[in-house]
Amino acid sequence: STKLDSELPKTDLPLSENALVVLARRYLRKDNRGKVVERPEDMFRRVARTIAQADLRYDPDVDVDEVADFFYGLMTDFKFLPNSPTLMNAGRELGQLSACFVLPIHDSIESIFDAVKHTAMIHKSGGGTGFSFSRIRPEGDRVQTTHGVASGPISFMTIFDVATETIKQGGTRRGANMGILRVDHPDIEAFITAKTQTDRLNNFNISVALTERFMEAVEREEDYGLVNPATGQEVARIPATRVFDTIVESAWASGEPGIVYLDRINQANPTPHLGEIESTNPCGEQPLLPYESCNLGSINLGRFVVDGAIDYPALREAVHGAVHFLDNVIDLNRFPLEQIREMTLRTRKIGLGVMGFADLLIQLGIPYNSAQAGTVAEEVMGFINRESKAASAELAERRGNFPAYKGSVYDTPETPYMRNATTTTIAPTGTISIIAGASSGIEPLFSVSYVRKVLDGTELVEAHPLFVQAMEKAGAYSEALLERIAERGSVQGMDEVPEEIQRIFVTSMDVAPEDHIAVQAAFQRHTDNAVSKTINFPESATKDDIRKAYLLAWRQGLKGLTIYRYGSRPVQVLNLKKKE
Ligand code: CDP
Repeated sequence: STKLDSELPKTDLPLSENALVVLARRYLRKDNRGKVVERPEDMFRRVARTIAQADLRYDPDVDVDEVADFFYGLMTDFKFLPNSPTLMNAGRELGQLSACFVLPIHDSIESIFDAVKHTAMIHKSGGGTGFSFSRIRPEGDRVQTTHGVASGPISFMTIFDVATETIKQGGTRRGANMGILRVDHPDIEAFITAKTQTDRLNNFNISVALTERFMEAVEREEDYGLVNPATGQEVARIPATRVFDTIVESAWASGEPGIVYLDRINQANPTPHLGEIESTNPCGEQPLLPYESCNLGSINLGRFVVDGAIDYPALREAVHGAVHFLDNVIDLNRFPLEQIREMTLRTRKIGLGVMGFADLLIQLGIPYNSAQAGTVAEEVMGFINRESKAASAELAERRGNFPAYKGSVYDTPETPYMRNATTTTIAPTGTISIIAGASSGIEPLFSVSYVRKVLDGTELVEAHPLFVQAMEKAGAYSEALLERIAERGSVQGMDEVPEEIQRIFVTSMDVAPEDHIAVQAAFQRHTDNAVSKTINFPESATKDDIRKAYLLAWRQGLKGLTIYRYGSRPVQVLNLKKKE
């Protein structure tokens, strides 16, 4: 239709209509009337050219155009994409390139409102913020200077929430927050249920920071102590199972709170001499020190299959290119705050991860819910992790180690060179996977076939291209069938779909929670930072199912867990086609 054609940007790149809509809305440059004046290829060219410039700092004779062409190729082949802020802001006025920030909050009005201001500045530039509210004294505590009564962490969280809501309108994308509270904070029980009333803290993901001591108390059914952070004094002892069950119930009812295993995160802290990690970024995959930021990027695994096998030499080249790219981003980033610039430049953390894992498995003919899927995950992420370290070490030989190297876990004769304190993170890739036309992150397909509203409001039935291909090859394809699949999402048990195709095309709801966790654990074993993953449960799942999942995740060495029971939230991002 002509209306559609005139609204979408022109391009020679193989971008889906969905991708073009997303790009036009937030990524492509616009004139002051709001008209898009950049084609997608111009955007990738702008990003590649800008990011290549950093090479000149280390080698005045470098051929920057050649480096830019290489970056451009990586992105336009959809083999690698950096996180959204880099695509949006590189080579433009804002110049803020990172997705993830953590800000400190101390127990004072000055500190709390400094953090509110800094949050606003970060959101304006497309970044997300995480905070620990654990240092704030509990509700009802005494306030020395005013002889008043403290409002507690949860009431202060609402200020951040309102600030975020207000900034939303003018910013590059809607801001997201992570709010964390330690399980031994006296206000923990109110925190856990803070989001069960709808329309509260909508701009927050909340997570409880569980300690090893707490988990052991759960296992032994013992009491544990609540500590007032302002005084360091234990104010109560309560049964660990009561708190654990409240978390389970709330997550069963609404998907929140998430949990993070804080001690475990700190066991993996590569720079303990700089301080303790208290929080992660909004989606939980990036633990950071106060004032640290991190830029992420993802390899699209679906683009590395040749003749039914992973093309490892090509993957190696992409990983080295991506590490080079992300290290350059640090140098060119325009940081929203001086403290953030300082901290980020000391550790130079980057987070390379993957998207298209489900696409990869489908091409290899391996079901997501099989032991083989775990083996592929370990192999491919093990490779990416090792190669990313090798790439970081090579960069360090030419550019120098990250400044906080001395005293870090890398400060040993075996690893004399390291440019980045961390190299790997598995991000959700919510938007960049749409741009790349890839399955998101390490998730299974959400649905084999789905209904999509097009710009003018008409509904289109679409299916995963590999599914269409497989069905055509089997002589089993029909449009009518796609519609019926869209109503269910899953093809399991459908006689019209050949058994082998049913086996390979499993969706998130077909995968049992323990199989979801197994994939997350396989990736976590080869990832410096954390892994973004949703553990899906059917609507009929019980609270005990969820309890077991948390314990399994803890035993499997995960750094955190996000669960979602289908239908437990009134508005879901993706809905199956409603039956008429
Ligand atoms: O795909 P894209 O690069 O847009 O982002 P993602 O991989 O879905 O999310 C990566 C991180 O970006 C999240 O963990 C947040 O820290 C941040 N983010 C945000 O601040 N606001 C959003 N609306 C989306 C993501």
